[in-house]
Amino acid sequence: MTGRIGILGGTGWLGQALGLALLRGGIVAPGDLVILNRSGAAPGYADFPGVTLVRDMAALQAQAGPLVLSVRPEDFPVPGFAPGARLLISFMAAIPMGRLQALAPDARIVRAMPNGGASTGRSYSPWFAGGDLPAGDIALTRRLLAAIGTEDRVDSEDHLDILSALSGSGPGYPALMAQAMHAKALALGLPPAIAERAVEAVVAGSAAGLAGGVPGAGEIVAALKSYRGITAAGLDAAEAAGFSRALDAALDAAVATARRLGRED
Ligand SMILES: NC(=O)c1ccc[n+]([C@@H]2O[C@H](COP(=O)([O-])OP(=O)(O)OC[C@H]3O[C@@H](n4cnc5c(N)ncnc54)[C@H](OP(=O)(O)O)[C@@H]3O)[C@@H](O)[C@H]2O)c1
Repeated sequence: MTGRIGILGGTGWLGQALGLALLRGGIVAPGDLVILNRSGAAPGYADFPGVTLVRDMAALQAQAGPLVLSVRPEDFPVPGFAPGARLLISFMAAIPMGRLQALAPDARIVRAMPNGGASTGRSYSPWFAGGDLPAGDIALTRRLLAAIGTEDRVDSEDHLDILSALSGSGPGYPALMAQAMHAKALALGLPPAIAERAVEAVVAGSAAGLAGGVPGAGEIVAALKSYRGITAAGLDAAEAAGFSRALDAALDAAVATARRLGRED
């Protein structure tokens, strides 16, 4: 890896997930990682004393080359933000490319949208950049994002908005389902600990079987329905009660919000 990598917000949930993944994967040496936060403390990097924690944006810009922007949208731009001509990879939801370009007119900008799997190396991180992004920046972007999972370049910023609503939701919808199943299990009289383990087996255990093949979801549903038994009865009732319609409405609302936030200043 050439050049030092800077992470603005390098101790936050996502910034630190990236920073530690880069270090643990040997993708970036501790001496080649520079981080900036607000509090001035970085206990999460205790195993990597060679990492540099700087005090302000000027130092980050002076000591690092490519920068990852991982502060919350409401905290951006941070004081002293003037990156000049360099690669910027923004993780910030709701800060559109146009606004980033206005704030950093000479920078080469990538917008990436990791998700809740980042801290376990299982993020799906779609990203968008203008068509003129140099090959070296493309390679570096892919290499950095691959440290936390899988990545795909998408052709339009609108696709990134859609993906912010979809993969960006991370554990949100499975958690909603877990909550509803857990409440039902308790209402049916199961002891709380048993109810918890049973629901966990559904949302975190069995669902792992979908890894590597979402098209297989239809086959799984069809196979379960073919037994014409207990699960088939439940799946039919869920569909009749609007399970798919509920998710359709959820994603419509989330996509609309992502598009609206992405266009506001
Ligand atoms: N969480 C997700 O699943 C997810 C997914 C995709 C994209 N994102 C995006 O990633 C970004 C970060 O999210 P997060 O969940 O990691 O947030 P977070 O945990 O709150 O972390 C924010 C980081 O920004 C630092 N920071 C805040 N203001 C600063 C300033 N003025 N100067 C320097 N550093 C400052 C914080 O430092 P201190 O801790 O010292 O205050 C912290 O390190 C957001 O824009 C979010 O939209 C998040």
